[in-house]
Amino acid sequence: MTQLHDISIQIIRAGQAPGGGYVASPTFSQYGYSWLRDGTWIAYAMDVVGQHDSAHRFYQWVARTLTAYQPQVVALLAKIARGETPAEADYLPTRFTLDGGLGSDAWTDFQLDGYGTWLWGAVQHLPYAPNFWSEIRPAVALTVDYLAALWQSPNYDCWEEFRDHIHTSTLAALYGGLKAVQSVEPTLVPSKLPDQIRDFVLQKGVATEGHFMKFLGNAEVDANLLWTAVPYGLVDIHDPIFAKTLAKIERDLYVPGGGVYRYRADVYFGGGEWPLLAAFLGLIYSELGRRTEAENILHWIESQANAHGEMPEQVADHLLAPEHFDGWVARWGTSACPLLWSHAMYLILKAKLEATA
Ligand code: BGC
Repeated sequence: MTQLHDISIQIIRAGQAPGGGYVASPTFSQYGYSWLRDGTWIAYAMDVVGQHDSAHRFYQWVARTLTAYQPQVVALLAKIARGETPAEADYLPTRFTLDGGLGSDAWTDFQLDGYGTWLWGAVQHLPYAPNFWSEIRPAVALTVDYLAALWQSPNYDCWEEFRDHIHTSTLAALYGGLKAVQSVEPTLVPSKLPDQIRDFVLQKGVATEGHFMKFLGNAEVDANLLWTAVPYGLVDIHDPIFAKTLAKIERDLYVPGGGVYRYRADVYFGGGEWPLLAAFLGLIYSELGRRTEAENILHWIESQANAHGEMPEQVADHLLAPEHFDGWVARWGTSACPLLWSHAMYLILKAKLEATA
């Protein structure tokens, strides 16, 4: 066990509310909420390092929280069935207060990917939690109905941007989540739905050069496209489309010896390198047997921790758009550190490399 490993677990545990939600960052002004996306990866990391009670409490909290929003989902689905266009407030939020509420500040809330992510994560947790399925099943069923009705609707991506587009990585998360549910209880998911989502992506989400697109109609790549193979398995890691996607991500978004950008046009806090995305690239390298490159990434991530062992959301060493940096700091303060999701991804990559040593 390294010190950073232990500190990461401590930071995550300290950031878990009594009810089970994980705060995205305990110190950053905008991140005092629990996101399904961040939270699921944090819970997954806690399972990986043997802290199953913590992961369990998170998934229980999600199930409880979503079940409380059932009337809202029922009303939304009825509206859609009547052919009416939902209002923004009709959709489920992307993040909740730590006690499961909506919070007071406006946010770019309609994001579907986290709902696929939590389905995927909850299924990964089942081996550690006998009889858990019956407890979370109502919330799982509700989520499946919600996604089945909305998967083709444009919605914000996992970076909470580009509301009016359909994002390849979001569809991959839905595919992965629905497939995971199907593997436990096939009848809970419309039988053809995951394949429909995959076919849709393969038909509309591939650029003429043969790689996945950031969103339909945008032929750039985003590092979140790594998820199409790991963990969501929309394509095999050896699939030629994925190979081209990976090659373009390496060319456009990876700083050798450093980290990984979200996408070239990123301006958020000047567009820095994200340790958590570096970890996802490290997981891909590990799967592909490119161990030295995966280890280099792990070392870079470790070297980004500050003197207290805290890991940031992003690193400002080689900003894509430095002229935007000061504006964000003036608006919200210095960027998030510690970010629990960064610690989680560090733990996951580290464990993966240890398991395959
Ligand atoms: C990121 C999201 C993340 C949230 C909380 C945002 O800046 O774009 O992916 O869920 O921060 O960490």
